[in-house]
Amino acid sequence: MTVKIEAKDLSKVYPSRNGPMCALRDFSLRVEEGEFVCIVGPSGCGKSTFLRILGGLLAPSSGEIKLFPRNEKAPLQNIVFQEYAIFPWKTVLDNVAFGLEMRGVPRKERRETAHDWIRKVGLAKFADAYPHQLSGGMKQRVSIARAFANDPEILLMDEPLGALDAQTRAILQGELVRLWEASRKTVVYITHSIEESVLLGDRIVLMTAHPGTYKTEYAVPFTRPRSFELTSAPEFARLSYAIWQELEVEVKRTMEKQS
Ligand SMILES: Nc1ncnc2c1ncn2[C@@H]1O[C@H](COP(=O)(O)OP(=O)(O)OP(=O)(O)O)[C@@H](O)[C@H]1O
Ligand SMILES: [Mg+2]
Repeated sequence: MTVKIEAKDLSKVYPSRNGPMCALRDFSLRVEEGEFVCIVGPSGCGKSTFLRILGGLLAPSSGEIKLFPRNEKAPLQNIVFQEYAIFPWKTVLDNVAFGLEMRGVPRKERRETAHDWIRKVGLAKFADAYPHQLSGGMKQRVSIARAFANDPEILLMDEPLGALDAQTRAILQGELVRLWEASRKTVVYITHSIEESVLLGDRIVLMTAHPGTYKTEYAVPFTRPRSFELTSAPEFARLSYAIWQELEVEVKRTMEKQS
């Protein structure tokens, strides 16, 4: 096993009107190459803060973060955000090809790659459409296609399906499992849905209430390939419930602090 991400004792303190506010506290995580790690924790515990640090968008206040690239020329990490972060003035094709364009991939090649991914996420007929012509689920497919098309070594996903209705979400969960199993990228995936984390992940890391830190983790024992059908298995329900029991304590702590 090759280590891909090593975060050690990361903390982040934000300035606030009431003085410094600790959003993340001594959080450590090690991710192996090709591993799909899900992070679950109560709202406001610092999950997005951690992902932004991983993505290089934010500097930690203390601690150390190391990423281990294999290929210096390829993009290292790509983030998919909860709110469809796609350009409204670009077509689906140009949105998906954006990362490739930034890297100077020739036009013909980037259009081919983009078309390929647009097809894989089921949007072949919408390659020339603009985001305002798409539903939320379709926009999120564009974000996902763009991230995969750019072929980063590490994919960082911050509740990528969080804004979707339950039915669209179930479909996209199934699609994500399939896409990931074909690519086996290193993924750090934040979600509020325990079921989603059990369906997608190899390992689930649970964070404590604010200021968030590592609480515990679960290895997901289910073999791959997986499909949405797994969610109907009794062992799936048992594991999901066990995780919920641990998480519930933290969610209640969060609520008590806020009331
Ligand atoms: N730029 C910022 N400045 C000040 N405080 C911030 C900033 N960003 C986040 N925070 C605070 O830091 C804490 C952690 O925020 P973060 O967005 O990382 O949580 P989260 O776990 O992603 O929450 P959610 O599940 O609701 O998305 C919260 O209390 C939030 O209010
Ligand atoms: Mg967040």
